[in-house]
Amino acid sequence: MKEIPSEPSKPLLNATVRSAAPLAGALTMPPDKSIAHRALLIAALCRGTTEITPLPSSEDCARTLQLIEALGVPVRRNASSSVQIVGQGLARPFHTPDADLWCGDSGTTLRLFAGVLAGQPWAARLTAAASLMNRPMRRVIEPLTEMGAVIQGESRGQEVYPPLAIRGRRPLASIRYTMPVASAQVKSAIVLAGLFAEGPTTVIEPTPTRDHTERMARACGGRVTFEPGRVTIESGPLTSPGRLIVPGDISSAAFLAVAASCVSGSRLRLCQVSLNPSRTAWISVLQRMGAAITTAVIEDAGEPSGDVAVEARPLRGAQISPSEVPALIDELPILMVAAACAEGCSRFSGIGELRVKETDRVASMMAGLRRMGIRVESPAPDVIEIEGGRLTGAAVESAADHRTAMSLAVAGLAASGVTTIRGAECVAKSFPEFFEYLQQITPPETVTVESSVTPKDR
Ligand code: S3P
Repeated sequence: MKEIPSEPSKPLLNATVRSAAPLAGALTMPPDKSIAHRALLIAALCRGTTEITPLPSSEDCARTLQLIEALGVPVRRNASSSVQIVGQGLARPFHTPDADLWCGDSGTTLRLFAGVLAGQPWAARLTAAASLMNRPMRRVIEPLTEMGAVIQGESRGQEVYPPLAIRGRRPLASIRYTMPVASAQVKSAIVLAGLFAEGPTTVIEPTPTRDHTERMARACGGRVTFEPGRVTIESGPLTSPGRLIVPGDISSAAFLAVAASCVSGSRLRLCQVSLNPSRTAWISVLQRMGAAITTAVIEDAGEPSGDVAVEARPLRGAQISPSEVPALIDELPILMVAAACAEGCSRFSGIGELRVKETDRVASMMAGLRRMGIRVESPAPDVIEIEGGRLTGAAVESAADHRTAMSLAVAGLAASGVTTIRGAECVAKSFPEFFEYLQQITPPETVTVESSVTPKDR
């Protein structure tokens, strides 16, 4: 096997955000990261050519596309933002890769491919960049091992981390698996492995998570039945539907929606956003806090999508319970900013999973909000309490985490004075256009981004 590729070096950036005048405008959101990963991977498993449009420019989705190519699946990149995947069908195993399969920092890429590699009759190694090397993998190794794959990772204490060496087999055993942790990535890995199993595979979740894999497998003729919290899939061919349309990213929209809720006088419309009910829980939380936010489904081609309209309103604190957390997992950091802008105390309980994302997001958000003058306490490792108050501009750290960086930038718009987000380049992981989008809805000079390398450092 060849060496693990090193991380490509990226220019380091600082973003400066000033207290904003009312935000105004309409923005079309870039395509959804979660849906795009699945569209690419399922198209590679289908028989026939599938156009995926539009294709996100996020780093994570680029990793998934690279791995598909490394597995010998022809990929035709179009001049416009779409791609064609020429799938050979499930019956023909992918080409045995001649190097390690590098997932960068994309947890979705690594966990979803673990499921697909479990069903390939050869061995390969999934490798990762720095932050993904510290993310837990036992949750995906255990069910796939039960299905017959042989998987080895790096054991430290009770946990297992990447890289993962996977020896797959065909057929896999079909299992009925109750997941100990609510995770759409783990559920999807098992469902994808279920395509190579000898009988029906059932996954039961402790709390429902996003259902894009199930919807897309069904759209491609897969024998799948599902309801919130449970999915059963049977092996069998997938057929290309010709085209898979990726709606706008609702998790990215959440940053802009909270900005418009918190900056007094704002009015914003976010267009062509995925409105899949397994992703809209953050909108209900904001409404509970008093936000003026409405949605309208305009299209439903397997995945509902439409517009989100937001007007600023005074917010009140909220209680987030553990059973709500899986459906809010990516929006918790930005909801913490909403809580910081709200009147009264907010309590987020059962948020331990946030500590094993790209960074420990409980710690990174607490540090950032505290620097901006907000009282935040963590009475237990999976609980935080935020006392709403006046945000004051400060220098804060992204902790190399895209959702922390974007959340603190939004806090900067609602704060008095100037906020600098150090390490802002990490937004490219999910929403490379984020700062440009903010610039479109704010007066000139409100949001600026510059290299953090001073002439002295060069
Ligand atoms: C994702 C699932 C979530 C989420 C991640 C994307 C997915 O992770 O945090 O950003 O696309 O399946 P978990 O399922 O591990 O919570």
